[in-house]
Amino acid sequence: MSTIPPKHRALILNSTRDPLDISVVEQTSPQAGPGSAVIRVLSAAVLSYAGEVYSGHKQPYQYPTPFIPGSSAIGRIAAVGPDATLLKLGQLVFFDSYIVGRDDPTSLILHGLTSGPTVGSRVMMEGEWRDSTYAEYAKVPLENCFPLDEARLLGDLRYKIEDLIYIGALSVPFGGLRDIGVKVGEKVIVAPATGAFGGAAVIAALAMGARVVAMGRNAEALERVKAVNPDRISVVLNTGDVTADTKELTKDGPADGFLDISPREAVTSTHLQSCILALRREGRASLMGGQLDLVPMPIRTIMRYDLTVKGKWMYTKDDMRVLISLVETGYLKLSEAGGIQTARTFPLEDFAAAFNAAAEKRKGFGVEAVIAP
Ligand SMILES: NC(=O)c1ccc[n+]([C@@H]2O[C@H](COP(=O)([O-])OP(=O)(O)OC[C@H]3O[C@@H](n4cnc5c(N)ncnc54)[C@H](OP(=O)(O)O)[C@@H]3O)[C@@H](O)[C@H]2O)c1
Repeated sequence: MSTIPPKHRALILNSTRDPLDISVVEQTSPQAGPGSAVIRVLSAAVLSYAGEVYSGHKQPYQYPTPFIPGSSAIGRIAAVGPDATLLKLGQLVFFDSYIVGRDDPTSLILHGLTSGPTVGSRVMMEGEWRDSTYAEYAKVPLENCFPLDEARLLGDLRYKIEDLIYIGALSVPFGGLRDIGVKVGEKVIVAPATGAFGGAAVIAALAMGARVVAMGRNAEALERVKAVNPDRISVVLNTGDVTADTKELTKDGPADGFLDISPREAVTSTHLQSCILALRREGRASLMGGQLDLVPMPIRTIMRYDLTVKGKWMYTKDDMRVLISLVETGYLKLSEAGGIQTARTFPLEDFAAAFNAAAEKRKGFGVEAVIAP
């Protein structure tokens, strides 16, 4: 059974160039087959660098053209394949854009954004999962649709659909924090804590019951982070002096965990050293940053203190389910209740305004813009 009209509106990226070569067209709606669902897209995330990716200014991103760009989204199930066992028509779901190859877990794509380095990931991106969520309807893998408790989220907790989009930003650092087994009451350093994912890491670590030390270069931005929960967040300025910064990070004792979520520009930043040096014996670090070049590491301390230093890209399906239950139970608060701003919503036709709004320098926590097709 399906509720999909024969035609739908979709944003098509015709080719990669600046100015953007994008148009809204009416075309045949997608259909569900074995292993897939079609969702009616209600609100789709817009990454801060979406405009740069689709105009070819940010590398390396690989996608076929023409295609429908997009990202994670909140949607309603409009059709399911014959092998669906849980998803029901009309059900509210979070669509997770991180798609893993079913017969090869090393083939990964970010739906609507980029394939990975493997041939398999390009097969997925150019074939079955080519078109994404900047459209009224999108065909997506069944296992990437996470059911949401609509009565609880939109009723009891009074969230708007666009508030739920922040689950996508939270899922990334949540994956790293769970990967190093952050526990209730532990002291966790997040650095840098003032960016999009750093801020989400602070929110996620608090929801996991940790005390958070937020580190960054900008004192004013750090104060905004602290304001979210002054009792459980302390801040440390990244001054570039490893000895002084480590002393500050450990003034009330060593940390149990550390999450790095650096941008590529932070390759010469000393925070990686000071934060690892601030860990206790058998402390754990999750490296989620995007530094492209080699970064110095305090190997002797890692060895002598039995530290665990793990890399992590994205998160697991189990991480997603646990994160959603933290939101549904109310342990992790979205919207103003959690100090998180509600995103501005743009119609499909205003994609350029949405990309520009998303790229604006964020003053607080949250997502700047979403597209509601
Ligand atoms: N592992 C994964 O699964 C995964 C997934 C998504 C993204 N990422 C990585 O996460 C990175 C951060 O993304 P984002 O969206 O949070 O970026 P963002 O919003 O631009 O934030 C960047 C942060 O880095 C700090 N920063 C910038 N330049 C720095 C420098 N030279 N030295 C030290 N700190 C610096 C900024 O703080 P101040 O300017 O306030 O100091 C800010 O806190 C991305 O670049 C990507 O590589 C990883």
